Amino acid sequence: MNIAEQPAKPVMALPDAQTVTEVQHYTDRLFRFRTTRPASLRFRSGEFVMIGLMGDPDPKTGKAKPILRAYSIASPAWDDELEFYSIKVQDGPLTSRLQHIQPGDQVILRPKPVGTLVHDALLPGKRLWFFATGTGIAPFASLLREPQTYEDYDQVILTHTCREAAELKYGEDLIESIRNDELLAELIGEGFADKLIYYPTTTRDPSPKMGRVTTLIQDGTLFADLGIDGISPETDRAMVCGSIGLNMDLKEILEGFGLREGANSEPAEYVVEKAFVG
Ligand code: A2P
Repeated sequence: MNIAEQPAKPVMALPDAQTVTEVQHYTDRLFRFRTTRPASLRFRSGEFVMIGLMGDPDPKTGKAKPILRAYSIASPAWDDELEFYSIKVQDGPLTSRLQHIQPGDQVILRPKPVGTLVHDALLPGKRLWFFATGTGIAPFASLLREPQTYEDYDQVILTHTCREAAELKYGEDLIESIRNDELLAELIGEGFADKLIYYPTTTRDPSPKMGRVTTLIQDGTLFADLGIDGISPETDRAMVCGSIGLNMDLKEILEGFGLREGANSEPAEYVVEKAFVG
């Protein structure tokens, strides 16, 4: 066989590879990216999947293993593409590399969506609260673009607490795009966005509203600002996604209001999930 007849060296394809279609950096700690969606992937808005990159080959065996982490899907279930919102950790095994992806690059996506931040885990109610810190806004970016959210509730409130004002940009853009989205208005009905209340706060950098959301609940500021009496198990449902501290503190606060934690198998009044860090 001469050289021209030799088969081309196969290009190593990643297992479960998807192609990056868009990348947007917000700060030196945060970025968003979109990927192609596997035709077979079905998920419920609010769920997460494992995504990642191939690690370096083991010097002894020469074999490389994927580095995977749980990422909430930030796009809604009806979207043709997938969106993710990620932290950048300079020495993080995955995000130190993931932050450099460009459109056209490949990422690994294990198509097995799971999670508790789904409508199925809540009993019917009138008002739905989304409490997020940092990248914990991601599952709510999905649910806020999901028609069922507005069909099932009279009012939807997103609170987002970040350290700095620049870290609110993803949420600000999201809310603006939802309010101006003609497709969503057609899908859900004109005026659906009137049900949506956005309550951003910062803790370390000046902004119009400062303080941890937990403090603002406990001192009554949040309810006074929104003209709401409080949270009650008869009318209110809540989803929480953020740091371990936020999740623990809000669990206690919500249970203090009489809400019980729900699950897919046993829906109740609130659900919690940890946002991916590292
Ligand atoms: P703080 O600046 O007071 O720590 P991080 O970037 O560390 O994930 O934090 C994101 C945001 O979540 C920060 O504004 C942080 O406030 C806030 N936060 C951290 N822990 C809690 C908590 N237990 N309750 C409410 N907010 C919290």
